[in-house]
Amino acid sequence: MQDAHYDQLKRTIMRLLTIDIDAYKTEQMRRRIETFVTTHGGGDAVAFERSLSTDKALLAKFRDMLTINVSEFFRDTPQFDRLHTLVLPELLERRPTLSIWSAACSNGQEPYTLAILLDELGAISRTRILATDFDRSVLPRARAGGPYGAPDLRGITPARRKRYFIDREDGTYVVDTLRARVQFAEHNLLSSAYGRDYDLIVCRNVLIYFQPDVKLAVLRKFQAALRPGGVIFIGGTEALLGAEVEGYKPLGGNFYQRPLDDLAGRRVA
Ligand SMILES: C[S@@+](CC[C@H](N)C(=O)[O-])C[C@H]1O[C@@H](n2cnc3c(N)ncnc32)[C@H](O)[C@@H]1O
Repeated sequence: MQDAHYDQLKRTIMRLLTIDIDAYKTEQMRRRIETFVTTHGGGDAVAFERSLSTDKALLAKFRDMLTINVSEFFRDTPQFDRLHTLVLPELLERRPTLSIWSAACSNGQEPYTLAILLDELGAISRTRILATDFDRSVLPRARAGGPYGAPDLRGITPARRKRYFIDREDGTYVVDTLRARVQFAEHNLLSSAYGRDYDLIVCRNVLIYFQPDVKLAVLRKFQAALRPGGVIFIGGTEALLGAEVEGYKPLGGNFYQRPLDDLAGRRVA
């Protein structure tokens, strides 16, 4: 695709979907957009752009491709085991109540995984879980607690399947007691205001798509949003290195802590 066509298409996408394409890794984003234009528009960028403005189904499919909503319960089980056995018990020992934010939560598998672990630790009643995503099309299913299919559930043990899930005609749902523990809201990591005083922020498999300077800015905002001693849990391929780790203490695995003695906090724009 010619650069001029790509730039024009990008402007149209930003206008129609309010997604800041420039904040995401350039090559990766361009490759994905070009592949979609080839498979859904025969490679003709101008015609594709026209179709996007008129064809709602195509626009929805295109948005799904851009936002990559892939998720599953207990995605990367060893890291959730670490959360269960080391990180959460330590946080629960120090704090009477926990405030948790699952940022970029997709269809809800991640925050419900957190709710399961907290229930198993007997701490769900003293925990508040906020789950957010900027893609408003994922939130109704997340709020409904399903339906989820076999690929979503492959990390669930039979005991958890029995205790926390219920089968209905259109698929599997989390039980209502779990569903009631998670609050969902729309939030864009690039433009929405961040909350404060979180004990745990879980943000996995989205930082990897951001440009390095954008990733760093997001990590700084997370740091300011954590309480001193609070922990961020990131994705397996998103390890913090060099400048990114500044102000965070590595806790092993995919966990980093805002130091307990960091009382001043970091000022962010
Ligand atoms: C691959 S999924 C990760 C879901 C879950 N965290 C996990 O690891 O299984 C990436 C999610 O990031 C969301 N996302 C992408 N850009 C975002 C942004 N700027 N603000 C908030 N969410 C975003 C997408 O909508 C998608 O649901």
